[in-house]
Amino acid sequence: MKYTLITGASAGIGKSTAFKFAKEGHNLILAARREELLNSIKNELISRYGIEAIVKSVDLSENSEVTNFYEEVKQYEIDVFINNAAFGDFNKVWDIDVEKAGKMIDLNVRALTTLSLLYVQDYKDKDATLINISSRAGYSIYQNVVTYCATKFYVSAFTEGIAQNLRDGGYRMRAKLLAPGQVHSEFVKSAVKDTDVEEFEWNDAHTSDEMAEYAYELYKSDQVVSKREQNGIKMMLQGPVFKYF
Ligand SMILES: NC(=O)c1ccc[n+]([C@@H]2O[C@H](COP(=O)([O-])OP(=O)(O)OC[C@H]3O[C@@H](n4cnc5c(N)ncnc54)[C@H](OP(=O)(O)O)[C@@H]3O)[C@@H](O)[C@H]2O)c1
Repeated sequence: MKYTLITGASAGIGKSTAFKFAKEGHNLILAARREELLNSIKNELISRYGIEAIVKSVDLSENSEVTNFYEEVKQYEIDVFINNAAFGDFNKVWDIDVEKAGKMIDLNVRALTTLSLLYVQDYKDKDATLINISSRAGYSIYQNVVTYCATKFYVSAFTEGIAQNLRDGGYRMRAKLLAPGQVHSEFVKSAVKDTDVEEFEWNDAHTSDEMAEYAYELYKSDQVVSKREQNGIKMMLQGPVFKYF
């Protein structure tokens, strides 16, 4: 039995993506910290779509938990692996909580790197797809969001690099990158946590359900990147953005 694994499946884009992939008949492994929430999502997915679903409660900002998590899920055949869990921080550089910046790197960069590498090493010869969630902030630097942007530049470069390595090497596995603009979710709430910035609503934002449709479109396409353009609302499917030598 094959599974799609989604990190950060308890809320926002990850939760919506779980519903979209379940609707398309995928069995799911749902990972995040809030186990109760994941269990209620799992029950709803099973009753609505008749798929199999497994819940894994894990704090992916803890390095030791990341490797244990991969060891636990390794027993399943995972044909789609979606690294979605991440958080942001809205602050001026001189006000950034250094501890929060470190946690962000641990989750957005370190966990994603560990999980991507282990997955590629196990699945490069199979029909498997790695989808990493970056952001438009992974291609542009926004004022007062520099640590988050830097983590997402990493995700973009790393994932595009993997995608091209796999293609050049003639491997069957594919790597892809979703780069949303603003999306309604719990993201702003966690990004302003422990800052002086007031919680706010995005303008011109997609819903998480719309972003899940784009994630599925990217999965089905031959393209590497789905990215929201700077001056538009639409996500555009395209090849790699960065130069590759
Ligand atoms: N929303 C936007 O405007 C936007 C724009 C561009 C890109 N993105 C990217 O889209 C992805 C999803 O974001 P979202 O907007 O859906 O955010 P969200 O609503 O805040 O969801 C984040 C998810 O990550 C999980 N998570 C957070 N910390 C975790 C940890 N330490 N260990 C395991 N799971 C953790 C959360 O679950 P628990 O709290 O239960 O652990 C939640 O399920 C992220 O990569 C984000 O950078 C978002």
